Amino acid sequence: MTQYRITLLSGDGIGPEIMAVAVEVLKVIGQQFNLSFEFQEALMGGVAIEAKGEPLPAETVEICKASDAVLLAAIGDFKYDNLPRHLRPETGLLGLRSALGLFANLRPAKILPQLIDASTLKREVVEGVDIMVVRELTGGIYFGQPKGIFATESGEKRGVNTMAYTEAEIDRIGRIAFETARKRWKKLCSVDKANVLDVSQLWRDRIIALSAEYPDVELSHMYVDNAAMQLVRNPRQFDTIVTGNLFGDILSDEAAMLTGSIGMLPSASVGAAGPGLFEPVHGSAPDIAGQDKANPLAQVLSAAMMLKYGLNQPAASDRIEQAVLQVLDDGKRTGDIMAEGMTALGCQGMGEALIQALNASQA
Ligand code: IPM
Ligand code: MG
Repeated sequence: MTQYRITLLSGDGIGPEIMAVAVEVLKVIGQQFNLSFEFQEALMGGVAIEAKGEPLPAETVEICKASDAVLLAAIGDFKYDNLPRHLRPETGLLGLRSALGLFANLRPAKILPQLIDASTLKREVVEGVDIMVVRELTGGIYFGQPKGIFATESGEKRGVNTMAYTEAEIDRIGRIAFETARKRWKKLCSVDKANVLDVSQLWRDRIIALSAEYPDVELSHMYVDNAAMQLVRNPRQFDTIVTGNLFGDILSDEAAMLTGSIGMLPSASVGAAGPGLFEPVHGSAPDIAGQDKANPLAQVLSAAMMLKYGLNQPAASDRIEQAVLQVLDDGKRTGDIMAEGMTALGCQGMGEALIQALNASQA
């Protein structure tokens, strides 16, 4: 039996409800594939602020580092919006990405045929969309120095952030992106703003230099404003997209929404070594927390990504994805993806349906 230590960061809002479903799914998968999971809860985000006075306690970083993978649900609540930046839940997440060296964020946006009508775009535009956004996660304007709000000589305040990338930072995310494209349809689009930004010019130069090592991957470049437009105009032109931290933050939400519900999308954040972090793309939805309304599927699919990309258990991962497709085929829906003629389920009900589908697939 293969043993894994999994850190669970359930976080805030709907986090604990959707995490509970993912844990139940993992337990069943563990029995089916002879994997044993040792789960350890740790605090991050608003729950950590309440319990420990800071969003990312040192103890949480230690627990994460000592595990094989970290599964995160969601963090944040409007009530923390006015706290100083170092005390906000989001700062905890950024600190954890940095502490674990998770420089690559993989965000798939795939249209499921069962949910095609949930998209706000026309069926003929989104049919067949299957995009992977590879977002740089520990550099760029999120982390560049100098940053802060400073007083000028005249006493006026000036806010500063710096978008910066070194060649090494571009190369390592570039390699992940080329490798990812290689496992898909071998098309990589690098998104930048090289017509205006020097940091983007270096980005483009390095990606072009790297492409010599990946002659089988077809490389293209797009300015970020055009990419934002092309994603809604003709999303099927994209296979793998690689881009910096801020552009990736924005474009991955846009790509996610092509699929109709951000409640369906998982993500993986990985580094050179050590545990990866797996989390849904959606947020903590405090408005529906505790009401058994949340869609747990992105969380469950994040657990599937953890099995595939973090623990190298692709068969177990596929089994979870199959179970998700099965419940959708059976017409089961949470509120965010509800459609006429379908069966409405709560978060727990969706979890039970998944377990049934998994047990049936075993038999
Ligand atoms: C995301 C989120 C985070 C980000 C926030 C919560 C810090 O929007 O994971 O996309 O900006 O990276
Ligand atoms: Mg975001």
